[in-house]
Amino acid sequence: MAEPAEDPDVVARRIASESLGQHDPTGWFERLYSAASDGAAVVPWDRGAAHPLLTEWAEESQPDGSGKSALIVGAGTGWDAELIADLGYDTTAFDISPSAVEAARRNHPDSQAKYVTADLLAPPADWHRAFDLVVEIYTVQALPIELQPAAIKQVGEQVGPGGTLVVIAAARPDDQADDAIEGPPWPLTRAAIESFATPDLRLIQVIQSPSPTDPTIHRWRAEYLRD
Ligand SMILES: C[S@@+](CC[C@H](N)C(=O)[O-])C[C@H]1O[C@@H](n2cnc3c(N)ncnc32)[C@H](O)[C@@H]1O
Repeated sequence: MAEPAEDPDVVARRIASESLGQHDPTGWFERLYSAASDGAAVVPWDRGAAHPLLTEWAEESQPDGSGKSALIVGAGTGWDAELIADLGYDTTAFDISPSAVEAARRNHPDSQAKYVTADLLAPPADWHRAFDLVVEIYTVQALPIELQPAAIKQVGEQVGPGGTLVVIAAARPDDQADDAIEGPPWPLTRAAIESFATPDLRLIQVIQSPSPTDPTIHRWRAEYLRD
């Protein structure tokens, strides 16, 4: 008799924990997206739409992206990149997983966004301070806490002069010990949100709000401006 198919959510968790157990903190993303493209797993964060807090930011800020460039970090299946490209930005969206990049291209065949494979921890040199808008949603928190400072630094380093950075992340209290978190994900403290700022990349707004689907989960929406 055929074995019953494994629950795709369980498969996702197993893929993550095997990779992390082998001290390969980013390898599981490709394994997960590749399994998802075969129907053997689900990508738990694939919302089929832009993140509601990014949509909210766009509605409040009404940015005009014409003549401007945007970089979408850890773009996954591309829904946030599509929102930003639709605002007129010349949009580059990257992910460490080639299968995620393929899925994004497949989901959005008429896209104006460029989907590319790249590693936030070693980004292409010509991206340095090159973008008018950088959007980071849930990538830093998907990395173990010891990698987060380097990832946070690289996110900020891609914002060009006069540019804006938007960060959306799950929140955790500052007094919650790092080793009390069983990630992924490893949500960000206020101190981590503040650490995206540098003397010339100023934190101009930070909002914490409960998730509409689970009010016990809080999220950050933060905006920074480069001088
Ligand atoms: C939790 S998912 C969030 C995806 C998307 N931003 C969203 O909110 O739906 C984290 C994403 O970051 C990507 N990622 C993880 N580490 C990365 C790295 N070092 N460089 C680029 N992408 C990375 C993963 O492949 C995954 O698509």
